[in-house]
Amino acid sequence: MTRPGDSPLRIGMLGVGTVGSALATLMQDRPELRLVKALVRDVAKPRKIAHPEAVLTTDPDEVLAEADVLVEVMGGTSLAVDVTRRALDAGLPVVTANKAALAERWDVYLPAMREGRVYFESSVMAGTPSIEPVAGILRGSSPLELHAVLNGTCSYILQQLEGGTSYAHALAEAQRLGYAEADPTLDVGGFDAAHKLTILARLAVTPDLAWEDVKRATHGIDRLTPGLVHEAMEDGGRVQLVGSITPREGAWHVTVRPVYLPAGHPLAAGESAALLYRGVGGEVLITGPGAGGVETASAVLGDLLALASGRPGPTPLSRPVVPPANAAIEELGEVDVA
Ligand code: NAP
Ligand code: HSE
Repeated sequence: MTRPGDSPLRIGMLGVGTVGSALATLMQDRPELRLVKALVRDVAKPRKIAHPEAVLTTDPDEVLAEADVLVEVMGGTSLAVDVTRRALDAGLPVVTANKAALAERWDVYLPAMREGRVYFESSVMAGTPSIEPVAGILRGSSPLELHAVLNGTCSYILQQLEGGTSYAHALAEAQRLGYAEADPTLDVGGFDAAHKLTILARLAVTPDLAWEDVKRATHGIDRLTPGLVHEAMEDGGRVQLVGSITPREGAWHVTVRPVYLPAGHPLAAGESAALLYRGVGGEVLITGPGAGGVETASAVLGDLLALASGRPGPTPLSRPVVPPANAAIEELGEVDVA
């Protein structure tokens, strides 16, 4: 990356959708950053960004030619990954919100991640910090277990079901609010939460965790009935989609499934994202918004500011963490959705 003097960091973006357009707006107040090119499917679509005629393109080469840094807010595991790989091979830093690509194509990012050239705070829990604590300070508190609410769409749908809204209406609202993935089966099927949990597990305990193993241990909320949600409410509890990393028989067990959370449980507070980490240093709870345009764009911007100030991105775990033997683990009651 060459950047003479105090000239702004030139941002090349992939995608100007929910997250990308919010980011473009936030960047307007940051003179140290300048959006130079952005890849979209349709340049004629109306968008709230400055000088769309100069910025928008359908040619990835134009983005790569002009950028000091690539920001990937496009999604998917094909074109987005291909262009990202080219950027990384050319030595550019990459900021990405694409958890599907990180979970399924970690190998593409890994060499540059080791160099601190990949920034991905927004990929898990949007603007609520999770990557930085898990890849940083919490490494000093050897993990006993981690439980997390990781999908804002599911949190929103479950909250709406509690209030009597139909599943179909709640999902449509989550899509309108910009929470859902372009393919919402990734959300309701549990796969988006599984992508995020895979990233957290690789950073916290098992650097070579295979995505397919997590996928096999994933159940979503798509087969949940309103009756099951209301049953949990009878004693003040809630149903939530929770991803867990727990030690079992000498290995780390990584799973996503709907569970009953009793009244007062730290993950039941109603925020759309929450991470409960138990380590030798005690219990840490992080909660906040987990989806949405500006909520996610704020984390992408935070990564860009870190990059602009010379801070490296999170580094991968160098070796697996040995699971604790005989740790007292919280057993969350699974909801039977078979
Ligand atoms: P989105 O609204 O669907 O926007 C996707 C953008 O990418 C659009 O501008 C689209 O172009 C462009 N795009 C898609 N496929 C393309 C292709 N083949 N060629 C060129 N351009 C293409 O998605 P989003 O909600 O902003 O999410 C973007 C990424 O952030 C995803 O990886 C998602 O998982 C992640 N993320 C989203 C959230 C959230 O709350 N939404 C939170 C955290 C992370 P057009 O506009 O021309 O169609
Ligand atoms: N579709 C995702 C969710 C976006 O609902 O959590 C944030 O990653």
